[in-house]
Amino acid sequence: MNDLRGRVTKDGIRLYLPTDFAGMRVAGRVAAEILDEVGPLVRPGVTTADLDAFIAERVSAKGAVSATIGYTPPGRDPYKHASCISVNDVVCHGVPGGKIPRRKDNVLLDGDILNIDVTVIVDGWYGDTSRMYVAGTAKPYAKRLIQVTHDGLMQGIAAVRPGQTFGDIGHAIQAHVELARMSVVRDFCGHGLGRVFHAPPNVLHYGRPGTGAMLEPGMFFTIEPMVNLGRPETRELADGWTAVTRDGKLSAQYEHSVGVTETGVEVFTLSPAGLFAQALA
Ligand code: MF3
Ligand code: CO
Ligand code: CO
Repeated sequence: MNDLRGRVTKDGIRLYLPTDFAGMRVAGRVAAEILDEVGPLVRPGVTTADLDAFIAERVSAKGAVSATIGYTPPGRDPYKHASCISVNDVVCHGVPGGKIPRRKDNVLLDGDILNIDVTVIVDGWYGDTSRMYVAGTAKPYAKRLIQVTHDGLMQGIAAVRPGQTFGDIGHAIQAHVELARMSVVRDFCGHGLGRVFHAPPNVLHYGRPGTGAMLEPGMFFTIEPMVNLGRPETRELADGWTAVTRDGKLSAQYEHSVGVTETGVEVFTLSPAGLFAQALA
């Protein structure tokens, strides 16, 4: 059934109605709550499979549905997990229970940094968010990567208001990251979402000011920069999902789902407990 209302721009971007923000607010909060709840479990000795099992249970307990279980992009096998868990040099789409690069298993060790990415569906609305976590104590250079990635996302969000462009968002992120002598991943981007998981536009995390589509009230999309300590290039592992840095250096990511309002931006996936940047505490 397709009962989506509201105009679609010439770039194919849906403009949702003011009343649609309520649905995104609920879905975004549920996803953010789950990321709050999984935090205390992240420690040396736990496996990524354990973390995903907990997340799957929390999704159900909240009456939500996982958007990733059964998700099947063209030409791929269905994804089978309630989260993506990307450890150290995994850039994104790390498969829970899959081997951690250069290890024989999926057990977290002291000093590991990881992104946990959860997308839920509540009443047909999608909430998509991810954060960084640390098992034990991170090295100073790893903490710096996490800080720059978090702040890059926040700089991107600060560029969101009607009249700005998607290029302004990408530029704000890229400028922040490159000033810190780190690199923005080009091979993955944010995306429109709403009553679908992945919709136009591709939200690039790099770009030039004033380029790209104009932001308009009612646009819903994610911003989810991946930042590498070394080179930006990525490589996909044989499992068909896991993307790693080509140079084997660390990568980090933060993701929020946002909506453009009449005057600025609403972030749908704020942490109710104020834990979004907890990895930096
Ligand atoms: N949540 C991811 C995103 O930010 C997508 C995960 S798709 C999966 O878009 F199949 F890998 F889970
Ligand atoms: Co996303
Ligand atoms: Co995500």
